[in-house]
Amino acid sequence: MVMKTVRILGTGSFVPPKVLSNFDLQNMDIDTSDEWIVKRTGIHERRMADPDVATSDLAYEASLKALEMAARSVDDIDLIIMATVTPDTCSPSGSNWLQARLKATRAFTFDITAACSGFIFALNVAEQYLKNGTCRTVLVVAAEVMTRTLDWKDRSSCVLWGDGAGAAVLTMADSGPQILSTHIHSDGANGQLILLPGGGSRTTPITRESVERGDHYLKLVNGNLSFRMAVRRFEESIRESVCHNGFDVDAVDWFIPHQANLRMFQILSRSLKVPLERFYLTIGKYGNISSASCAIALDEAVRDGSIKPDNLVCLPVFGGGLTWGSALIRW
Ligand code: ACO
Repeated sequence: MVMKTVRILGTGSFVPPKVLSNFDLQNMDIDTSDEWIVKRTGIHERRMADPDVATSDLAYEASLKALEMAARSVDDIDLIIMATVTPDTCSPSGSNWLQARLKATRAFTFDITAACSGFIFALNVAEQYLKNGTCRTVLVVAAEVMTRTLDWKDRSSCVLWGDGAGAAVLTMADSGPQILSTHIHSDGANGQLILLPGGGSRTTPITRESVERGDHYLKLVNGNLSFRMAVRRFEESIRESVCHNGFDVDAVDWFIPHQANLRMFQILSRSLKVPLERFYLTIGKYGNISSASCAIALDEAVRDGSIKPDNLVCLPVFGGGLTWGSALIRW
């Protein structure tokens, strides 16, 4: 008898239609150039949500697609976990906004704050609820409107980010893409490297001064250091999930990483001795969408037929917090 394990029934994603190219940024009077951004990051353009669109609106579109592929209705959902650092409001949570929009009245819901690693953290939590029998169907959504956190005068950060959402519907079953394992880690001591200081209890209430100081913008305190840490943690996380399941790195058909910087994957491709073609990359067209990056890339790789049945797929992530980890999936 085949054992029931955690399976992905469907995936979905959505990015807002508005494209913001590197040339558009140049024209916004940001002291940058298409040449610099492409050479140092691999990003050509990113998507930007319209002012009246919030994170749960993007999550809603991605969720509908994932539910459709999964052949499940909103009434089947027992739990909604939303990974985000840009919820519609601090309270209620982003997942509450999404639940209301979906009319998923049976579900209980909560958010996970693990920055760019959020999708894998949410998969890890979903796994526990499914394995212990509390839930039969879990909707995991990673969604961000990063462009609303940006200081458009800070060229070291504002060129990197974009908006979008990715989703997956999970259940226990004996067939379908199987989550072999998830692995998650945190390092709060280095958390201030990637920081959005304002609006929380550590800072003063929102005041004219806090706004003028730029406390409410996302800050990359040391992009160079977080770049090097990301490369190290990506490699560790890939090796951790592959070794845990008794494989070699070479057995992985697709690496679908958090999309932060093309140069990270060029370095990883050399250190892991796997061709860059095995990294499924959306960084060029979407930039860094924090938690949603690898969820969107996963869905696009499924829908364009890149991922084939029986492929071994590894999703390594790294982000603010600091947080990192990976998932290994037998498709
Ligand atoms: N346009 C033009 N010049 C720029 C820009 C820009 N947009 N941004 C920085 N520069 C300049 C700097 O001012 C600096 O100039 P100087 O030498 O005169 O002082 C020069 O370019 C080099 O700056 P560095 O910061 O050393 O550039 P680097 O090659 O490290 O690239 C980057 C910076 C893209 C931020 C890179 O470090 C990076 O991708 N880090 C990872 C950051 C990240 O994504 N963190 C978020 C979460 S972690 C994650 O997602 C994995």
